[in-house]
Amino acid sequence: MPHILEVHRDGLTISTDPHRLDLDTICDFLAQSYWAQTRSRRTIQRSLRHSLVFGVYDQERQVALARLVTDFATFAWLCDVFVHPDYRGRGIGKWLMETIQAHPNLQGLKRWVLVSRDARGLYSRYGFTSLQTPKRWMEKFNPDAT
Ligand SMILES: CC(C)(COP(=O)(O)OP(=O)(O)OC[C@H]1O[C@@H](n2cnc3c(N)ncnc32)[C@H](O)[C@@H]1OP(=O)(O)O)[C@@H](O)C(=O)NCCC(=O)NCCS
Repeated sequence: MPHILEVHRDGLTISTDPHRLDLDTICDFLAQSYWAQTRSRRTIQRSLRHSLVFGVYDQERQVALARLVTDFATFAWLCDVFVHPDYRGRGIGKWLMETIQAHPNLQGLKRWVLVSRDARGLYSRYGFTSLQTPKRWMEKFNPDAT
């Protein structure tokens, strides 16, 4: 089990405690996202259960999320990053990225990956680049998965 991390700043908390997650809030946001509009509640719940989750909380209200799929040894996939619209532009996205990369169980990984349509400028600050060897990468994509 990974270490449960909790950090505080400006009255907000980042926590990796899965028990704090607000499934309704996460489902609402993903329903409005461009990448997971059709993801079912059941799939969302299962994905959270098997991920390292970073929730951001204003008191008890969840205001942001990032999810990592990782083996804690070699690889991490960063996904489902969102900040509630009311809380954007205050540095929460950057704080999340700094906190994720500082997590003690994620040190020394060979590779981190993510897919982003328009937030590449955020991630490039933290060392993410375009694929260095795109011809080697393959994917199996199922557009009908929900
Ligand atoms: C992208 C997102 C997570 C950023 O969170 P945030 O808390 O508003 O970001 P921050 O306040 O920490 O600032 C992010 C920095 O990255 C930059 N940036 C680059 N691309 C960006 C983008 N598409 N959206 C927001 N910021 C972006 C900002 O300009 C800002 O830089 P600055 O400090 O020099 O002004 C948030 O806007 C969001 O949830 N968007 C909708 C969902 C989404 O697109 N998620 C990413 C999917 S990969």
